[in-house]
Amino acid sequence: MAKIGIFYGSTSGITEEIATTIREKLGEEECDLYSMEDDFDEYDQLLEYDYLLLGCSTWGAGDVQNDWRDPLFEMELEKPDFSGKTIALFGAGDQVDHGTEFVSALGKMYNHFKTLGATLVGEFPNEGYSFEYSSALVDDKFVGLPIDEINQSDKTEERIDQWVESIRPIFLDD
Ligand SMILES: Cc1cc2nc3c(=O)[nH]c(=O)nc-3n(C[C@H](O)[C@H](O)[C@H](O)COP(=O)(O)O)c2cc1C
Repeated sequence: MAKIGIFYGSTSGITEEIATTIREKLGEEECDLYSMEDDFDEYDQLLEYDYLLLGCSTWGAGDVQNDWRDPLFEMELEKPDFSGKTIALFGAGDQVDHGTEFVSALGKMYNHFKTLGATLVGEFPNEGYSFEYSSALVDDKFVGLPIDEINQSDKTEERIDQWVESIRPIFLDD
């Protein structure tokens, strides 16, 4: 088992692509990769890792990607203990067509895992985006890495790079 578990939910493959890129950048031997659709059975799989990178795109109006819905619901009921776990979040959204809830799923994931006792890291500056509202902002910083591949694909790689370098010391060098 690798040190870091990457779990992602992705409907059209954008967050999957981000997850794969993050893994390549951190090192494949350091990260196990799980699709929430194909590889996930129960939240105990998350608890096997002290270091988690969780990917979730935003659907509906600010909702988490479909494959995260049942697991989050189950955790809300059973309240597993995530204290001692370090979590960073990433996910895709669309600030133009869905700018009233841009990447708000990240805000939901943040509140969820914080309530369960996890330490959330990996904030990202709110610069170069244009949208009306996002519940993923705390003190005007995103709680994780927001990627808008639909409108700003030219910025995706540098954003992933910047974010990975910001979390690397926390996830790999301690
Ligand atoms: C019906 C629908 C609802 C969406 N709702 C949101 C939303 O509330 N907020 C947002 O930022 N993006 C929203 N999006 C955009 C998706 O998050 C975006 O297409 C993303 O790239 C999908 O990533 P995935 O392929 O990893 O699932 C929505 C897209 C569709 C088609």
